[in-house]
Parts: sequence; C-alpha cells; structure tokens
Amino acid sequence: MNTLLLRPEDAGAIEQAGALLAAGQVVGIPTETVYGLGANALNDAAVRQIFAAKGRPADNPLIVHIADFDQIYGLVAEVPEAARRLADAYWPGPMTIILPKADCIPDAVSAGLATVGIRLPTHPVARAVIRAAGVPIAAPSANTSGRPSTTTAAHVMEDMAGKIAAVVDGGPCQVGVESTVISLAGDKPRLLRPGGISLEQLEAVLGPVEVDRAVREQIGDDVRVSAPGMKYRHYAPHAPVTAVCGDPAKGADYIAAHLTGKSGVICFDEFAGRFPGHVVRTIGRADDQAAQAHAIFDALRAFDHTDVAAIFAQCPDDTGIGLAVANRLKKAAGFHIIEV
Ligand code: TXA
Ligand code: MG
Repeated sequence: MNTLLLRPEDAGAIEQAGALLAAGQVVGIPTETVYGLGANALNDAAVRQIFAAKGRPADNPLIVHIADFDQIYGLVAEVPEAARRLADAYWPGPMTIILPKADCIPDAVSAGLATVGIRLPTHPVARAVIRAAGVPIAAPSANTSGRPSTTTAAHVMEDMAGKIAAVVDGGPCQVGVESTVISLAGDKPRLLRPGGISLEQLEAVLGPVEVDRAVREQIGDDVRVSAPGMKYRHYAPHAPVTAVCGDPAKGADYIAAHLTGKSGVICFDEFAGRFPGHVVRTIGRADDQAAQAHAIFDALRAFDHTDVAAIFAQCPDDTGIGLAVANRLKKAAGFHIIEV
C-alpha cells in the first residue's frame, strides 16, 4: 500500500482524509498530544485494521475521538455530572474520560470492556478531519506497539509507511505526551494514565482522585489493570534505557560517572556539556516540564538512528505534567530506575 502524505493546507486534503476514514481506511492524524492512527469507531472491520497496523494486542482498548461535545451522546450509556464539569474545564483538550459504553461501540474498540474512552481533541486539523469523516474516530497513538509514540508526521511514516492509507501532516504536536485518562466509570474518579491535563488540574474540578497503581509501578502480566495499555513494555527505543530520578544536578553527576563508550544521554538543557564524546539529546530545562513533554518522544526515537547501545535519561519529578513525562520515561526504561 502506498501511504499518502496529505497537507491540510492543500485544497481538498481534509476532505480526502475524511473520505478515506468514511470508507473504512486507516489514516494517521495530528492531535495536540501525539499523532493518532484513526479509523471509523463504529466500523468493526476498520478498527481491526488499526490493531494489525500497530501490532497491538487485542485486549488493549482504543480511545474514541469526537469533534464536538454533543457527539458523546450515543457513544456512552450516560454522561454523569462530573463528566460534564471535566469537559467544561478541559475539553477540547488532552483528556480522555472513561464511561460505561453504549451498545453501538464495537467490541474491537472496547476490547471486551463495558466502558469506552472519549476524547475531544483541541487540534483544529484533528477536529476538521473528524467532521469531514462524519463519524467518531477510534485512534491509538500512531506508533508500532511498544515503540515511542509519534509526535511528527515523519515519525508516523517511519512506523506506518506501507501499512495505512494516509498520514495528515499537522506539524509537530504541541503537548507531546498523550492525553490524561480519567475513569468516571467506577465509584470514585480514578487516574489511569497521567497526561496533558495534570492530576492537580483534575482534582481542582473533581476533588480527590485515586491514582491507579500502574501509573507509578510496574505491573506484572498476570495482574488485571484498569487501563490495559499500562501493563505493556512501552515507549521503548531499541537501546535499553535507565531512568535517573531525583535531584537533577546529582543525576547528571551519576550519569557522567557511569557512562561507557556507546552510551547516550537524554538530559536537561543545563547539563548538556557534562557528557563530551557521547550522543546527547536535550529535552528542556530542569524546571520546564512542558518543554520536556514536547521533546521526550522525539528524543527517545532519535537514538534508533544512532549506534548508541544504552541510554541514560534524566527524569523530572511527579508534579504537573512531570508525572506524565516521568511515567513515559520509567516505562521506556522497563522500570529500570536509579534514584539519586
Ligand atoms: O493523547 C492520546 O490519548 C492519543 C491521541 C491519539 O488521542 N491516543 C492514545 O491512545 O494515546 P493509546 O491507545 O495509545 O492509549 C490509550 C490508553 C491505553 O493505555 C488504553 O489501555 C487506555 O487508554 N484505555 C482506552 N480505553 C480504555 C477503557 N475503556 N478503559 C480503560 N482504559 C482504556
Ligand atoms: Mg499508545
């Protein structure tokens, strides 16, 4: 299959992406978090092609993307008041709300669960493509399963060329880590995956939010987790990663002392000069977690184009969007973590 690269500024490009989706094809689409691998969420066969293109385990459900709030009715069994308040505060935006699903959601989307995740993205191209398709769009991150997520159209082409109908190039993703996944399907609100909306922001609207164990710890294959995606090795470049957490200056000292010949480094900007002779990718200053979120997946993916055999990565603390960046880095490291 020849994968088309569509530019939203070209006449007819958005309509073409919408028509491909409406016809049951898979299309890579930009969102403010990461690129998504989209298909008609109400078409079981179309959704199954997403799993094939990604090599994604069938027990990992997909998020359904909508272009306007009212599209949520019909996709979920009910819209509780808490969901409405969250939506008022943070939609459109990088947040996915898990609710009991409506019957029209195919099993392939919900992976057999009784719930579905809904997200209203803020990216104008994402919303235009969903509107042009005329249907809700199921979309996981547009990476091969297990690899770092994709935050540019070039990343999507790296993983998906020849496997999907088209990629819409909306430029680099602004947030850079995936949406926050919050479940309102149980007794209490529960954070299943940290992301672009921080835990502090959720609690400002909902009051106390439980944090799923899988956010901070490695979960064994035999354990049932609330967000199935959180148990898989994930976000990983080919070279093994060590996440270095704690005081940034001490972390830089630790890395400088432990580097071997073919090690690479992901570090905060102010420490870039500490590792001469090594491949170094900076992700923003230690106190700029938004910059780190924006840069982290590109940095992880970049090492696959080098001969680096091991990667040390400086990890931010758990405040704000740092919780999401730290979660992605720890998972990329397979929870091989050094606390300094
Ligand atoms: O920012 C994002 O959320 C991106 C863009 C494309 O919107 N999408 C994304 O999808 O990250 P994906 O499939 O890579 O990650 C979705 C996560 C997985 O961990 C999955 O297990 C969880 O959300 N999830 C989806 N539906 C769920 C459900 N019904 N119950 C619990 N967890 C769910
Ligand atoms: Mg993903």
